[in-house]
Amino acid sequence: MHTTTVGIIGGGPAGLLLARLLHNSGIDCVVLESRDRAYVEQRQRAGILEQATVDVLRSSGAGERLDREGIVHDGIELRFDRRGHRIDFPGLTGGRRVWIYAQTEVCKDLIALQLADGAPLLFEAQVHSVEGADTDRPVIRYTHEGREQTLTCDYVVGADGFHGVARSAIPESLKRTYERVYPYSWLGILADVPPSCDELIYAHSPRGFALHSMRSPTVSRLYLQVPNGTDPADWPDERIWDELDARFAIDGDWKLERGPITSKAVLPMRSFVTEPMRYGRVLLAGDAAHIVPPTGAKGLNLAAADVIVLARAFARLKETGSAELLDAYSDTCLRRVWRAEHFSYFMTTTLHTDPDQSPFDTRLQISQLDRVAASPHAAAELAENYAGLPIG
Ligand code: DHB
Repeated sequence: MHTTTVGIIGGGPAGLLLARLLHNSGIDCVVLESRDRAYVEQRQRAGILEQATVDVLRSSGAGERLDREGIVHDGIELRFDRRGHRIDFPGLTGGRRVWIYAQTEVCKDLIALQLADGAPLLFEAQVHSVEGADTDRPVIRYTHEGREQTLTCDYVVGADGFHGVARSAIPESLKRTYERVYPYSWLGILADVPPSCDELIYAHSPRGFALHSMRSPTVSRLYLQVPNGTDPADWPDERIWDELDARFAIDGDWKLERGPITSKAVLPMRSFVTEPMRYGRVLLAGDAAHIVPPTGAKGLNLAAADVIVLARAFARLKETGSAELLDAYSDTCLRRVWRAEHFSYFMTTTLHTDPDQSPFDTRLQISQLDRVAASPHAAAELAENYAGLPIG
């Protein structure tokens, strides 16, 4: 039997960042990750870090490569009605900006640090259950290297994603869930071609949504709205580039450069929140507690915000014996979670074409986009949410 102060289920960005922050505060923890290292390091997710996420990576000692290789972005382009409109983040938010630095890279950096000098990190550790959430010593049961093991903890953090087991430690009778599934998906590609833009382009078009993002000066990341159930095999490279061309088309000269596509995948889109984010001595963080549709890239940043709040609460408990911040954890996080839920829903529903969309709905979308383009107040509302609100 093993024991620790904080047992962390899940070695994705939430679990790894929490482990780093706890380690820096002298609080011991163990991270149990069900997949192997290569899987975690290659799992493609979004690539936008908010100011607050960058700040915490830097202050925790995980910002060195981010500072060398991350690309600072001071705005985005909204493209609709064959025109582009830039939203300037620092000017509208008092200096906040975002960074292009992929989740895969954040995970690689945090894993390397943790294996070098951090808390134990076990890969391929399958968690079966969390028991005794309402006792002083909750227990995680898991299998590692063919052996059944238990980890007895002061607290358990479930950072094991939407499909994880930790959420089931909260009794059904106390749990409320809120959910929306969207009637479209994204086809995401990586291509070995320099981005055709300096900043991200979010395009509303009569053919559906498209997004031009990037990973580096030589790698582009692009997304197309596609119907649910789409098989990537139905999208040969030519068809993808032709469709991207059609959706990004504007009056004036702009050209989408094509290149070899190295990865293709379809992503479903969902909004989901479970409340509360804590029961007894089990606390949920990141996708285990909430999912956003990808438009606006809030998922990783919300996970980072959860664990920042959590790490502060554990540090307070250690230093003063006060559980006040831990007791407030769920309420503190949920305020920010619901703001990001609304923003992600807003970006998604304003930019995508619903299969049942009427011409009236389309006019409302264009009117809203026009408003953001015309009014610094409306643009500031978008910019503040996109660049990220300060962590309360
Ligand atoms: C990326 C993903 C997003 O969902 C988004 O809104 C912006 C960028 C990305 O993968 O780069």
